[in-house]
Amino acid sequence: MKRLDRALLGLAAAIGAAAPAAAQQPAQVSVQVDLQSAGLVIERAIYGQFAEHLGRGIYEGVWVGEHSPIPNTRGYRDDVLGALRRIHVPVIRWPGGCFADEYDWRDGIGPRDKRPVRVNTHWGGVTDDNSFGTHEFMDFTELVGADAYVAGNMGSMGPRDMAQWVEYMTSDSASTLAQERRRNGRDKPWKLKYFGVGNETWGCGGNMTPEYAADLHRRYATFVVTPWGAPRLTKVASGANVDDYHWTEVLMRDAAREMNALSLHYYTFPGSWEHKGPATGFGEDEWASTLDHARRMEELVSRHSAIMDKYDPEKRVALFVDEWGTWYDQEVGSHPGFLYQQNSLRDAEVAALTLNIFHRHTDRVKLAAIAQMVNVLQAMILTDGPRMLLTPTYHVFDMYVPFQGATPYKATAEGASYKEGSITLPSVDVSAARAVDGKLWLSLVNLDPKRPAHVTTNLTGTASGRILTGPTMDAHNSFDQPNAVHPVPFAGRSEHGKLVFDLPARSVMVVRIH
Ligand code: AHR
Repeated sequence: MKRLDRALLGLAAAIGAAAPAAAQQPAQVSVQVDLQSAGLVIERAIYGQFAEHLGRGIYEGVWVGEHSPIPNTRGYRDDVLGALRRIHVPVIRWPGGCFADEYDWRDGIGPRDKRPVRVNTHWGGVTDDNSFGTHEFMDFTELVGADAYVAGNMGSMGPRDMAQWVEYMTSDSASTLAQERRRNGRDKPWKLKYFGVGNETWGCGGNMTPEYAADLHRRYATFVVTPWGAPRLTKVASGANVDDYHWTEVLMRDAAREMNALSLHYYTFPGSWEHKGPATGFGEDEWASTLDHARRMEELVSRHSAIMDKYDPEKRVALFVDEWGTWYDQEVGSHPGFLYQQNSLRDAEVAALTLNIFHRHTDRVKLAAIAQMVNVLQAMILTDGPRMLLTPTYHVFDMYVPFQGATPYKATAEGASYKEGSITLPSVDVSAARAVDGKLWLSLVNLDPKRPAHVTTNLTGTASGRILTGPTMDAHNSFDQPNAVHPVPFAGRSEHGKLVFDLPARSVMVVRIH
């Protein structure tokens, strides 16, 4: 069978025989990529992941212990390690989240059978035997090939504790802490690139006012230092929740000098915090509201950046969106407080739209971390004991690998809109960038769940890559059908000398332009 025939067959299977035939006329969309408008590089770190001691995110999801029947390397499950390496995870943030501000790093070092057992008060009140601690995390990042982003406890411990944790991880001296690390099995210091000075200080990190949080940040950050001559830490201040612009204003006004980055947390719910909505089995209204809410990231990033510009016109302080993603009602029957949710084609669209937004704000957004890596919220990977599946969100991160470190171009998509109830969205979103190896890549997202799109472009040549779609809005992978949603080959074609794409409804496409 020829390659194109195989690709068409794969696409037909992905869309699904049961799908209502594409009876609708395709939306007409015109995409313009300005190849003269190169922006600042898309930092690889915007493809970061967040991994908290929450539910089955770390325990089972990453760490099963050396004696587990689940195939593992020194206690880390091999299937998860392999999957994370394939998407070139650039950075992992740990141990929280809310958990960070109740975590004593000393609980997680030394012989595992001697580590204390603590109650995880934020997440389900379950016990944590601390078998996954500093050594396990840092070792894990090295196995994945990612940078480490450690979030320190500013809510319930002192600055000396924070400073000593950093010394333990980074000192090559003969200090007592460095020697203790050596006795615990690690001779050379680890490479610690990012350090979070507290988390969500406006909420679970201590319920502070912004003025108090800014003062405390200055105080703690003063003591968080790497050894003389070692690379400096990127110190991250705990930033705003969603649209709390006053928070950003005060933190930048009072503490910008003591930070290298300020965080922003934004979660996407189809409904409200109280009534979020299910991860699957939703209606078109929830599809549309979810994508609409996800697109709000553009406004949030722009407005927080504008405030930062006032105090930092040179853009020395980066904006780190170090918690983002969808948050639904947790799956029926799952442990309360574990935030376990399915992941569907809708999540793939949220991921692609959000990454495209970050591509458009590379002047300020230098790191992001999707919440969370395994088994929690908008996960890349779900596990069920020894079984593992890759979610549609994972596939988007996989398809987007060429954008890591690429140079973005200004790109616009104009034409028909997608309307559902009172919500109006563009039917297509676009991102284009030149990869590190000089190749041009294009991403298109068809937001309309029912209508295909005929996309004309100003680009020439040929285009081939992959597309992710499925027979329904909530198409997802299950442990019985782990490969129901997966990317299939896809190509553009030439019309009047220009590249055009016939996008199926509800799809994410990434192609290389030859
Ligand atoms: O990701 C789940 C939680 O959401 C994190 O622990 C916290 O920082 C945020 O509120």
